[in-house]
Amino acid sequence: MSILVTGGAGYIGSILVEELVQQGNQVVVLDNLSQGHQRAVDTRAKFIKIELSDLKKLNQIFGSYNIQAVIHLAAKSIIGQSMIEPQPYFQNNIVYGMNLLDAMMKHSVKKIVFSSSAAVYGHPKKMPITEKEVTKPVNPYGESKSMFEKILQWYGQAYGLMSTSLRYFNAAGATLKYGEDHNPETHLIPNILKVALGQSPYVAVFGNDYPTRDGTCVRDYIHVFDIAKAHILALKHLENKGYNKVYNLGCGKGYSVNEVIEAAKKITNTQIKTKIHCRRPGDPVVLVADPKLAQRQLGWSPLYSDMENIIDSAWLWQKAHPHGYKEDLG
Ligand code: UFG
Repeated sequence: MSILVTGGAGYIGSILVEELVQQGNQVVVLDNLSQGHQRAVDTRAKFIKIELSDLKKLNQIFGSYNIQAVIHLAAKSIIGQSMIEPQPYFQNNIVYGMNLLDAMMKHSVKKIVFSSSAAVYGHPKKMPITEKEVTKPVNPYGESKSMFEKILQWYGQAYGLMSTSLRYFNAAGATLKYGEDHNPETHLIPNILKVALGQSPYVAVFGNDYPTRDGTCVRDYIHVFDIAKAHILALKHLENKGYNKVYNLGCGKGYSVNEVIEAAKKITNTQIKTKIHCRRPGDPVVLVADPKLAQRQLGWSPLYSDMENIIDSAWLWQKAHPHGYKEDLG
């Protein structure tokens, strides 16, 4: 199968692309390298640097490669930044996303798996969260994901587009080759590991006065390789007419910030200093998925997502790439 992956040079994209080519698919990767790294793209995939604003080039690409399906991961994704400057979030995640859909429609490509987020739920009342929970995003990033999900639904109804939206909870971990390298790094686990590596003096804990078991926020961490596998299953499911659906990708188990830090101390065998900061604006208290729908309908279950494996794999990668992908440039 010939698959186009937008954002394929990013953290989740690189690991997905490796698995897609490993399984014998032909893969075309589109990325503007604003957060992604060309070094993170499997050399068996065709890499094209492009802004999705460039509809002419997008149409040329669809005209040149016999694309059968699209996996759309490219997005702006820093929640805090989206609160201060929403414009690039709606422009990239909606307007340029529409360009992609236009090019798909023009070339009769009717299958898309979309990278959505638990951020569509906002501050949900019921835990664990099922897909039936109302979507009430509390930041422009989550809003843009929710809007694009709806666009896909309407395109399904009107144009016969077949889509699956995957709502990731907290992606974490690494494979041997590919891992997490964001600039700036805002995520908890890589920030903890920077302290273990001696690159940061302490981890800032954003609030310890939440109504949780130890006062810190609780999240559902899911190994990035499990996320990659879910995309491949979702593509297969589209073949069987299982489309216009949304699925949660999480484990159904929550860890507090302090629990993640304690687990990291054991695995890295280092003292990880912490400093309590004030709450980070927009952080929901608890986000834990009910992943049963994806298990039942996609046949997906997280196999690599126990916390020890997540931190261990991220630690191995971060030790081997202390400066991320930059180092490889020599
Ligand atoms: N945290 C810290 N210190 C840090 C970084 C994070 O205390 O240095 C805390 C956060 O306040 C939060 C938890 O650790 O309570 C997890 O934070 P992350 O930044 O790692 O992840 P988020 O939960 O904010 O967001 C992630 C993705 C979003 C997605 C969301 C859904 O980045 O795209 O999960 O669960 F929407």
